[in-house]
Amino acid sequence: MARRSVRRVRRPVREEKVAAPRTWRGVIEEYRSYLPVTTATPVITLREGGTPLLESRLGERYGIRLLVKYEATNPTASFKDRGMTVAVSKAAEAGARGVICGSTGNTAASAAAYAARAGMTCVLLIPADGVALGKLVQAIACGATLIRVQATFDGALDLARAAAARFGLTLVNSTNPHRIAGQRTAAFEVCDALGRAPQALALPVGNAGNITAYWAGFSDYQKAGRIRSRPQMIGVQAEGASPLVQGHPIERPRTVASAIRIGRPASWDGAVAAVRDSGGQFISVSDDEILAAQDDLAREGLFVEPASAASVAGVLKLVRAGKAPHEVVCVLTGHGLKDPEVVQSRAKLPPPVPATLEAIQSRLAPRSP
Ligand SMILES: Cc1ncc(COP(=O)(O)O)c(C=O)c1O
Repeated sequence: MARRSVRRVRRPVREEKVAAPRTWRGVIEEYRSYLPVTTATPVITLREGGTPLLESRLGERYGIRLLVKYEATNPTASFKDRGMTVAVSKAAEAGARGVICGSTGNTAASAAAYAARAGMTCVLLIPADGVALGKLVQAIACGATLIRVQATFDGALDLARAAAARFGLTLVNSTNPHRIAGQRTAAFEVCDALGRAPQALALPVGNAGNITAYWAGFSDYQKAGRIRSRPQMIGVQAEGASPLVQGHPIERPRTVASAIRIGRPASWDGAVAAVRDSGGQFISVSDDEILAAQDDLAREGLFVEPASAASVAGVLKLVRAGKAPHEVVCVLTGHGLKDPEVVQSRAKLPPPVPATLEAIQSRLAPRSP
Protein backbone atom coordinates (compact mmCIF):
# COMPACT_ATOMS: atom_id res chain seq x y z
CA MET A 1 0.00 0.00 0.00
CA ALA A 2 2.60 2.45 1.21
CA ARG A 3 4.95 1.67 -1.74
CA ARG A 4 2.18 2.21 -4.29
CA SER A 5 1.27 5.64 -2.88
CA VAL A 6 4.96 6.68 -2.99
CA ARG A 7 5.08 5.72 -6.67
CA ARG A 8 1.95 7.75 -7.39
CA VAL A 9 3.55 10.85 -5.88
CA ARG A 10 6.83 10.39 -7.79
CA ARG A 11 5.52 9.88 -11.31
CA PRO A 12 4.59 13.48 -12.17
CA VAL A 13 7.99 14.67 -10.92
CA ARG A 14 9.81 12.33 -13.32
CA GLU A 15 7.64 13.48 -16.26
CA GLU A 16 8.36 17.07 -15.44
CA LYS A 17 12.09 16.36 -15.57
CA VAL A 18 11.82 14.82 -19.01
CA ALA A 19 9.75 17.71 -20.33
CA ALA A 20 11.93 20.43 -18.79
CA PRO A 21 12.56 22.98 -21.53
CA ARG A 22 16.12 23.68 -22.60
CA THR A 23 17.12 27.33 -22.46
CA TRP A 24 17.22 28.94 -25.90
CA ARG A 25 20.75 30.26 -26.52
CA GLY A 26 20.18 32.71 -29.38
CA VAL A 27 20.53 32.05 -33.10
CA ILE A 28 24.34 31.96 -33.26
CA GLU A 29 24.69 29.17 -30.70
CA GLU A 30 21.60 27.31 -31.95
CA TYR A 31 22.70 27.33 -35.60
CA ARG A 32 26.48 27.89 -35.32
CA SER A 33 27.42 25.40 -38.04
CA TYR A 34 25.26 27.26 -40.58
CA LEU A 35 26.62 30.72 -39.76
CA PRO A 36 29.82 32.59 -40.68
CA VAL A 37 31.25 32.49 -37.14
CA THR A 38 34.32 30.86 -35.60
CA THR A 39 35.63 30.52 -32.07
CA ALA A 40 37.29 33.90 -32.64
CA THR A 41 33.91 35.60 -33.06
CA PRO A 42 32.65 37.32 -29.91
CA VAL A 43 28.95 36.42 -29.67
CA ILE A 44 26.88 39.55 -29.17
CA THR A 45 23.43 38.22 -28.38
CA LEU A 46 20.17 39.06 -26.64
CA ARG A 47 19.01 35.46 -27.12
CA GLU A 48 17.02 36.29 -30.24
CA GLY A 49 15.08 33.73 -32.30
CA GLY A 50 13.24 30.70 -30.96
CA THR A 51 9.99 32.45 -31.88
CA PRO A 52 6.67 30.58 -31.90
CA LEU A 53 5.06 28.99 -34.93
CA LEU A 54 1.35 29.17 -34.22
CA GLU A 55 -1.81 27.90 -35.87
CA SER A 56 -4.14 30.79 -36.80
CA ARG A 57 -7.93 30.54 -36.53
CA LEU A 58 -8.10 32.41 -39.83
CA GLY A 59 -7.08 29.19 -41.56
CA GLU A 60 -10.15 27.38 -40.25
CA ARG A 61 -12.35 30.26 -41.35
CA TYR A 62 -10.95 30.28 -44.88
CA GLY A 63 -10.47 26.53 -45.39
CA ILE A 64 -6.66 26.39 -45.47
CA ARG A 65 -3.93 25.61 -42.94
CA LEU A 66 -2.58 29.02 -41.93
CA LEU A 67 0.37 29.14 -39.55
CA VAL A 68 2.11 32.29 -38.33
CA LYS A 69 5.76 32.76 -37.39
CA TYR A 70 5.44 35.36 -34.63
CA GLU A 71 8.66 37.36 -34.84
CA ALA A 72 7.37 39.99 -32.40
CA THR A 73 8.81 37.95 -29.52
CA ASN A 74 12.39 38.81 -30.52
CA PRO A 75 14.31 41.03 -28.04
CA THR A 76 13.59 44.30 -29.87
CA ALA A 77 10.24 42.96 -31.09
CA SER A 78 11.05 42.36 -34.75
CA PHE A 79 12.81 39.80 -36.97
CA LYS A 80 15.74 42.18 -37.47
CA ASP A 81 17.47 40.84 -34.35
CA ARG A 82 18.31 37.54 -36.10
CA GLY A 83 20.57 39.25 -38.59
CA MET A 84 21.76 41.95 -36.25
CA THR A 85 23.30 39.50 -33.78
CA VAL A 86 25.48 38.12 -36.58
CA ALA A 87 26.29 41.50 -38.17
CA VAL A 88 27.30 43.12 -34.88
CA SER A 89 29.24 40.04 -33.71
CA LYS A 90 31.22 40.08 -36.98
CA ALA A 91 31.74 43.84 -36.66
CA ALA A 92 33.11 43.28 -33.14
CA GLU A 93 35.37 40.49 -34.44
CA ALA A 94 36.74 42.90 -37.07
CA GLY A 95 37.39 45.52 -34.37
CA ALA A 96 34.77 47.97 -35.70
CA ARG A 97 34.45 51.32 -33.97
CA GLY A 98 30.74 51.52 -34.57
CA VAL A 99 27.82 50.69 -36.84
CA ILE A 100 25.51 52.73 -39.06
CA CYS A 101 22.29 52.09 -41.00
CA GLY A 102 19.45 53.76 -42.83
CA SER A 103 16.14 52.55 -41.48
CA THR A 104 12.34 52.74 -41.45
CA GLY A 105 12.62 52.05 -37.70
CA ASN A 106 12.99 48.37 -36.86
CA THR A 107 16.55 48.00 -38.14
CA ALA A 108 17.39 51.15 -36.18
CA ALA A 109 15.96 49.78 -32.95
CA SER A 110 17.75 46.48 -33.41
CA ALA A 111 21.10 48.05 -34.38
CA ALA A 112 20.89 50.37 -31.37
CA ALA A 113 20.27 47.47 -28.98
CA TYR A 114 23.00 45.17 -30.32
CA ALA A 115 25.53 48.00 -30.60
CA ALA A 116 24.78 48.93 -26.98
CA ARG A 117 25.28 45.29 -26.00
CA ALA A 118 28.64 45.29 -27.79
CA GLY A 119 29.67 48.65 -26.35
CA MET A 120 29.90 50.22 -29.82
CA THR A 121 28.65 53.52 -31.14
CA CYS A 122 25.59 53.44 -33.37
CA VAL A 123 24.51 56.01 -35.95
CA LEU A 124 21.01 55.86 -37.41
CA LEU A 125 19.79 57.71 -40.51
CA ILE A 126 16.01 57.91 -40.41
CA PRO A 127 13.58 59.44 -42.95
CA ALA A 128 12.43 62.75 -41.42
CA ASP A 129 8.75 61.79 -41.67
CA GLY A 130 6.59 58.76 -41.14
CA VAL A 131 8.74 56.56 -38.89
CA ALA A 132 6.82 55.05 -35.96
CA LEU A 133 7.67 56.77 -32.69
CA GLY A 134 7.92 53.52 -30.70
CA LYS A 135 10.87 52.38 -32.80
CA LEU A 136 12.72 55.66 -32.42
CA VAL A 137 12.14 55.67 -28.67
CA GLN A 138 13.77 52.22 -28.47
CA ALA A 139 16.81 53.46 -30.40
CA ILE A 140 17.20 56.65 -28.37
CA ALA A 141 16.87 54.73 -25.10
CA CYS A 142 19.74 52.46 -26.19
CA GLY A 143 21.97 55.51 -26.67
CA ALA A 144 22.20 55.61 -30.47
CA THR A 145 22.84 58.82 -32.40
CA LEU A 146 19.69 59.40 -34.37
CA ILE A 147 19.81 61.66 -37.42
CA ARG A 148 16.57 62.56 -39.20
CA VAL A 149 17.28 62.98 -42.89
CA GLN A 150 15.10 64.86 -45.38
CA ALA A 151 14.76 61.84 -47.65
CA THR A 152 12.77 58.66 -48.16
CA PHE A 153 14.18 55.37 -46.82
CA ASP A 154 15.90 54.79 -50.17
CA GLY A 155 17.73 58.14 -49.87
CA ALA A 156 18.65 57.44 -46.24
CA LEU A 157 20.16 54.09 -47.25
CA ASP A 158 22.24 55.69 -50.04
CA LEU A 159 23.54 58.21 -47.52
CA ALA A 160 24.28 55.50 -44.92
CA ARG A 161 26.40 53.59 -47.45
CA ALA A 162 28.42 56.72 -48.24
CA ALA A 163 28.70 57.69 -44.57
CA ALA A 164 29.93 54.20 -43.60
CA ALA A 165 32.82 54.54 -46.04
CA ARG A 166 33.61 58.15 -45.05
CA PHE A 167 33.45 57.73 -41.26
CA GLY A 168 34.82 54.19 -40.90
CA LEU A 169 31.61 52.63 -39.60
CA THR A 170 30.21 49.18 -40.42
CA LEU A 171 26.99 49.28 -42.45
CA VAL A 172 24.41 46.98 -40.84
CA ASN A 173 21.59 47.24 -43.35
CA SER A 174 20.50 44.00 -44.99
CA THR A 175 23.01 44.67 -47.78
CA ASN A 176 25.52 43.42 -45.18
CA PRO A 177 25.74 39.66 -45.95
CA HIS A 178 25.96 38.81 -42.24
CA ARG A 179 22.46 40.22 -41.75
CA ILE A 180 21.11 37.88 -44.42
CA ALA A 181 23.07 34.95 -42.97
CA GLY A 182 21.46 35.48 -39.55
CA GLN A 183 17.96 35.97 -40.90
CA ARG A 184 18.18 32.54 -42.59
CA THR A 185 17.68 31.04 -39.13
CA ALA A 186 13.96 31.86 -39.27
CA ALA A 187 13.61 29.43 -42.19
CA PHE A 188 15.55 26.80 -40.20
CA GLU A 189 13.19 27.23 -37.25
CA VAL A 190 10.06 26.86 -39.41
CA CYS A 191 11.42 23.58 -40.83
CA ASP A 192 12.56 22.32 -37.42
CA ALA A 193 9.10 22.98 -35.98
CA LEU A 194 7.24 21.23 -38.84
CA GLY A 195 9.82 18.52 -39.51
CA ARG A 196 9.73 19.64 -43.18
CA ALA A 197 9.21 22.79 -45.23
CA PRO A 198 5.69 24.22 -45.53
CA GLN A 199 3.94 24.29 -48.91
CA ALA A 200 4.21 28.10 -49.04
CA LEU A 201 5.64 30.97 -47.04
CA ALA A 202 4.26 34.52 -47.25
CA LEU A 203 6.01 37.62 -45.95
CA PRO A 204 5.91 41.40 -46.31
CA VAL A 205 8.58 42.74 -48.66
CA GLY A 206 10.21 46.15 -48.35
CA ASN A 207 13.95 46.29 -48.96
CA ALA A 208 13.71 42.54 -49.78
CA GLY A 209 16.45 41.33 -47.44
CA ASN A 210 14.11 39.03 -45.53
CA ILE A 211 12.65 37.19 -48.53
CA THR A 212 16.21 36.74 -49.82
CA ALA A 213 17.28 35.36 -46.44
CA TYR A 214 14.35 32.94 -46.06
CA TRP A 215 14.97 31.53 -49.54
CA ALA A 216 18.69 31.12 -48.81
CA GLY A 217 17.77 29.40 -45.53
CA PHE A 218 15.40 26.91 -47.17
CA SER A 219 17.96 26.25 -49.92
CA ASP A 220 20.77 25.64 -47.41
CA TYR A 221 18.58 23.32 -45.32
CA GLN A 222 17.74 21.35 -48.48
CA LYS A 223 21.43 21.09 -49.41
CA ALA A 224 22.19 19.85 -45.89
CA GLY A 225 19.54 17.14 -46.28
CA ARG A 226 17.30 18.60 -43.57
CA ILE A 227 14.29 19.10 -45.89
CA ARG A 228 13.28 17.51 -49.20
CA SER A 229 11.41 20.35 -50.85
CA ARG A 230 11.34 24.13 -50.54
CA PRO A 231 8.20 26.27 -50.19
CA GLN A 232 6.64 28.61 -52.74
CA MET A 233 7.62 32.13 -51.71
CA ILE A 234 4.83 34.74 -51.66
CA GLY A 235 6.19 38.28 -51.38
CA VAL A 236 3.54 40.80 -50.32
CA GLN A 237 3.86 44.55 -50.92
CA ALA A 238 1.53 47.48 -50.23
CA GLU A 239 -0.22 48.79 -53.37
CA GLY A 240 1.38 52.24 -53.07
CA ALA A 241 4.85 50.75 -52.51
CA SER A 242 4.95 47.77 -54.83
CA PRO A 243 8.03 48.05 -57.07
CA LEU A 244 8.48 44.27 -57.28
CA VAL A 245 4.86 43.74 -58.32
CA GLN A 246 5.02 46.52 -60.90
CA GLY A 247 8.51 45.62 -62.09
CA HIS A 248 10.06 49.06 -61.66
CA PRO A 249 11.19 51.36 -58.81
CA ILE A 250 8.63 53.72 -57.24
CA GLU A 251 9.80 57.29 -56.71
CA ARG A 252 7.41 58.23 -53.88
CA PRO A 253 6.21 55.06 -52.15
CA ARG A 254 3.06 55.49 -50.05
CA THR A 255 1.39 53.18 -47.55
CA VAL A 256 0.17 53.14 -43.97
CA ALA A 257 2.67 50.28 -43.41
CA SER A 258 5.73 52.47 -42.81
CA ALA A 259 8.17 49.55 -42.46
CA ILE A 260 7.62 48.55 -46.10
CA ARG A 261 7.34 52.07 -47.53
CA ILE A 262 10.27 51.39 -49.86
CA GLY A 263 10.43 52.16 -53.57
CA ARG A 264 13.84 50.77 -54.56
CA PRO A 265 14.54 47.45 -52.76
CA ALA A 266 18.28 46.88 -52.29
CA SER A 267 17.88 43.09 -52.57
CA TRP A 268 15.74 43.28 -55.72
CA ASP A 269 17.58 40.44 -57.49
CA GLY A 270 17.46 38.16 -54.45
CA ALA A 271 13.70 38.65 -54.13
CA VAL A 272 13.08 38.03 -57.83
CA ALA A 273 15.18 34.85 -57.72
CA ALA A 274 13.34 33.58 -54.62
CA VAL A 275 9.93 34.01 -56.22
CA ARG A 276 11.00 32.70 -59.63
CA ASP A 277 12.93 29.65 -58.39
CA SER A 278 10.23 28.67 -55.90
CA GLY A 279 7.33 29.01 -58.34
CA GLY A 280 5.86 31.67 -56.05
CA GLN A 281 4.60 35.19 -56.69
CA PHE A 282 4.61 38.84 -55.72
CA ILE A 283 1.24 40.28 -54.79
CA SER A 284 0.08 43.70 -53.60
CA VAL A 285 -2.60 44.55 -51.05
CA SER A 286 -4.39 47.79 -50.23
CA ASP A 287 -3.92 49.65 -46.95
CA ASP A 288 -7.52 48.71 -46.03
CA GLU A 289 -6.72 45.02 -46.55
CA ILE A 290 -3.58 45.39 -44.41
CA LEU A 291 -5.50 47.05 -41.57
CA ALA A 292 -8.31 44.46 -41.76
CA ALA A 293 -5.72 41.67 -41.42
CA GLN A 294 -4.10 43.54 -38.51
CA ASP A 295 -7.53 43.57 -36.76
CA ASP A 296 -8.14 39.88 -37.52
CA LEU A 297 -4.79 38.90 -36.03
CA ALA A 298 -5.26 41.07 -32.94
CA ARG A 299 -8.61 39.34 -32.31
CA GLU A 300 -6.66 36.14 -31.76
CA GLY A 301 -4.08 37.78 -29.53
CA LEU A 302 -1.46 38.57 -32.15
CA PHE A 303 -0.91 42.34 -32.13
CA VAL A 304 1.39 43.16 -35.03
CA GLU A 305 2.37 46.34 -36.81
CA PRO A 306 0.62 47.13 -40.12
CA ALA A 307 3.56 46.00 -42.31
CA SER A 308 3.56 42.61 -40.60
CA ALA A 309 -0.13 42.05 -41.30
CA ALA A 310 0.57 42.39 -45.04
CA SER A 311 1.60 38.72 -45.22
CA VAL A 312 -1.81 37.59 -43.98
CA ALA A 313 -3.63 40.20 -46.08
CA GLY A 314 -1.89 38.79 -49.16
CA VAL A 315 -2.84 35.20 -48.39
CA LEU A 316 -6.47 36.13 -47.70
CA LYS A 317 -6.56 37.93 -51.05
CA LEU A 318 -5.33 34.73 -52.73
CA VAL A 319 -8.02 32.75 -50.86
CA ARG A 320 -10.72 35.09 -52.18
CA ALA A 321 -9.34 34.62 -55.70
CA GLY A 322 -9.40 30.81 -55.24
CA LYS A 323 -5.62 30.69 -55.67
CA ALA A 324 -4.35 30.10 -52.13
CA PRO A 325 -2.01 27.24 -51.20
CA HIS A 326 -3.55 24.68 -48.86
CA GLU A 327 -0.84 25.28 -46.28
CA VAL A 328 1.03 28.53 -45.72
CA VAL A 329 3.26 30.06 -43.05
CA CYS A 330 2.76 33.82 -42.77
CA VAL A 331 5.66 35.71 -41.21
CA LEU A 332 4.50 38.30 -38.67
CA THR A 333 7.58 40.47 -38.72
CA GLY A 334 7.13 42.93 -35.87
CA HIS A 335 5.08 43.90 -32.81
CA GLY A 336 2.09 46.24 -32.90
CA LEU A 337 3.20 48.17 -29.82
CA LYS A 338 6.02 49.76 -31.83
CA ASP A 339 3.64 51.32 -34.35
CA PRO A 340 0.29 51.74 -32.58
CA GLU A 341 -0.77 55.01 -34.22
CA VAL A 342 -3.42 53.63 -36.59
CA VAL A 343 -5.08 51.48 -33.94
CA GLN A 344 -4.85 54.35 -31.45
CA SER A 345 -6.51 56.79 -33.85
CA ARG A 346 -9.49 54.45 -34.29
CA ALA A 347 -9.91 53.24 -30.69
CA LYS A 348 -10.95 56.12 -28.45
CA LEU A 349 -10.52 55.52 -24.72
CA PRO A 350 -13.96 55.34 -23.05
CA PRO A 351 -14.72 57.98 -20.37
CA PRO A 352 -14.05 56.80 -16.76
CA VAL A 353 -16.93 55.60 -14.56
CA PRO A 354 -17.38 55.75 -10.75
CA ALA A 355 -15.73 52.82 -8.92
CA THR A 356 -19.00 50.98 -8.25
CA LEU A 357 -20.47 47.66 -9.42
CA GLU A 358 -23.55 49.53 -10.67
CA ALA A 359 -21.40 51.62 -12.97
CA ILE A 360 -19.70 48.48 -14.29
CA GLN A 361 -23.09 46.84 -14.82
CA SER A 362 -24.39 49.84 -16.73
CA ARG A 363 -21.42 49.54 -19.07
CA LEU A 364 -21.95 45.82 -19.57
CA ALA A 365 -25.74 46.02 -20.04
CA PRO A 366 -26.85 46.04 -23.68
CA ARG A 367 -27.79 49.59 -24.65
CA SER A 368 -31.47 50.14 -25.45
CA PRO A 369 -32.11 51.34 -29.00
C1 LIG B 1 8.06 44.98 -39.55
C2 LIG B 1 8.72 44.82 -40.86
N1 LIG B 1 8.18 43.99 -41.75
C3 LIG B 1 8.74 43.79 -42.96
C4 LIG B 1 9.89 44.47 -43.32
C5 LIG B 1 10.44 44.21 -44.69
O1 LIG B 1 11.61 43.48 -44.64
P1 LIG B 1 12.67 43.63 -45.82
O2 LIG B 1 13.06 45.09 -45.85
O3 LIG B 1 13.78 42.74 -45.46
O4 LIG B 1 11.96 43.25 -47.05
C6 LIG B 1 10.49 45.34 -42.43
C7 LIG B 1 11.71 46.08 -42.79
O5 LIG B 1 12.03 47.08 -42.20
C8 LIG B 1 9.91 45.52 -41.16
O6 LIG B 1 10.43 46.34 -40.25
